[in-house]
Amino acid sequence: MKWFDVDKAGLAKLLAKRGKEFILFELIQNTWDEATTKVIVTLVREGPKSRNAVLTVEDDNPNGFVDLTHAFTLFAESTKKANAEKRGRFNLGEKLVLALCEEAEIVSTTGAVRFDKDGRHTSRKRRERGSIFTGVIRMTDEEMQRCGEMVQCLIPPDNIITIYNDQPIAFRKPVSWGEKSLPTEIADSEGFMRKRQRMARVEIYDPQPGEFGTLYEMGIPVVETGDRWHVNVFQKVPLNLDRDNVPPSFISAVRAIALDWMHASLTVDDVNTTWVKDAFQKHGDKLSPVTINQVTDLRFGPKRVSFDPSDPEANQLAVSQGFTLVHGGSMSGQEWDAVRRAGAILPAGQVTPSPKPYHPDGTPLTLIPRAQWAPAVTLVVNYMETIGRQLVGTQISTDVTNDPTWPFRATYGPGHLTLNLGALGIEFFMGPLTEINHLLIHELGHHFSGNHLSSDFHESLCRLGAKLADLVLNMPHLFKSVVNGLLVSTPMAH
Ligand SMILES: Nc1ncnc2c1ncn2[C@@H]1O[C@H](COP(=O)(O)OP(=O)(O)O)[C@@H](O)[C@H]1O
Ligand SMILES: [Mg+2]
Repeated sequence: MKWFDVDKAGLAKLLAKRGKEFILFELIQNTWDEATTKVIVTLVREGPKSRNAVLTVEDDNPNGFVDLTHAFTLFAESTKKANAEKRGRFNLGEKLVLALCEEAEIVSTTGAVRFDKDGRHTSRKRRERGSIFTGVIRMTDEEMQRCGEMVQCLIPPDNIITIYNDQPIAFRKPVSWGEKSLPTEIADSEGFMRKRQRMARVEIYDPQPGEFGTLYEMGIPVVETGDRWHVNVFQKVPLNLDRDNVPPSFISAVRAIALDWMHASLTVDDVNTTWVKDAFQKHGDKLSPVTINQVTDLRFGPKRVSFDPSDPEANQLAVSQGFTLVHGGSMSGQEWDAVRRAGAILPAGQVTPSPKPYHPDGTPLTLIPRAQWAPAVTLVVNYMETIGRQLVGTQISTDVTNDPTWPFRATYGPGHLTLNLGALGIEFFMGPLTEINHLLIHELGHHFSGNHLSSDFHESLCRLGAKLADLVLNMPHLFKSVVNGLLVSTPMAH
């Protein structure tokens, strides 16, 4: 016994919100699902004064309709629903088209059926091959014109010629293509639609002028994404019953594919769009490191470091050297994960480290025992410790290392000076005194501030310079050792 009847007029009213082009899309995709090589579509006004248009869609599929009752049976088990590479599944589209027709006829190899004001009639008509749909549909001039425009958005399979009002619909050359695993929906052996993950061909195209980026299912536009490129998926996508949308997660997955394949063509404008952010945010883990680097380059510039809470001065050093300092809040957690995995942004402490008395990997410096210091080294260290004590008011101890791989000439921690013979060179210890005082003032500045770029540091340097002059005048004996040594024998440089 039959459970349902369909109110055709009610169904037609529900469809009023859809653009009439859906009629063309439904009928054309049915022909594309068959072994068709040529489809001829015409849409013309019925007569000079008529409010109706006549639509015909004719294909040359040798088999025609296998079961013509499918033309009028809503949700009959479509033979295509288990096949991921065919568009049909609901056995609905054609009936929606019929709901909008004043009258219609389908003639195929297996028979013919007519629909008019008196109902449905089967007839003896037959075709040798292929099927033809003819429908009379109420349409305004604007609707007809829009159909003509929208039909040009179709991307015909490259083995089927589709002609609309005598003009072939253009084939499109992808700018990129490949295979990717994507969610799809296909029927299991009992006919129940199931979600599955499946490899599919994916093609990317440049939108034509006036077009907006759109997601396609095997050449049929599904939803306008507004992205930079069209993406055409060559298998069933998880469509809603209206065939005009997919879940947001599917859109992000497709965006990630486009982003990954097209990274070399991205612009600064692209990286600030929602589609790139969406792909990066949701699928950062699947993007290639090259893509992540490219996006990061465009977003933050090629010179960039992340804010490093473990080395505050490194952050300032980075900025002073022209790096963009990227703070945590500039990206989401997922984006940071992707960026870290790709090594696209390093912490400031690794790029512009502040001077520290140990190697970046934490290994301590190898020190030269005091007994092995050259006389000039001892002389300079004694001088620095004596003068330093006067300048900062505390005892200063000194280590000397000879490590050319440690990238600093000297460092200063509270009361402790480290000199790197490996970076300074023994000549430094020979004078002139100007250079020695220069280094001493700089290092002692760190007694008051660790941060080279702070005003505290700057003020301390000024104060230390002034104090040094006072010392020379008031305690000249402190300078005797160096005056008597080699240090002033070279003329002052500046
Ligand atoms: N041009 C055509 N040639 C052969 N069969 C067709 C044609 N148009 C429609 N059909 C048949 O009508 C039905 C349409 O259902 P289908 O396309 O699977 O549903 P939907 O498009 O609603 O998801 C299928 O059984 C299909 O075989
Ligand atoms: Mg269909």
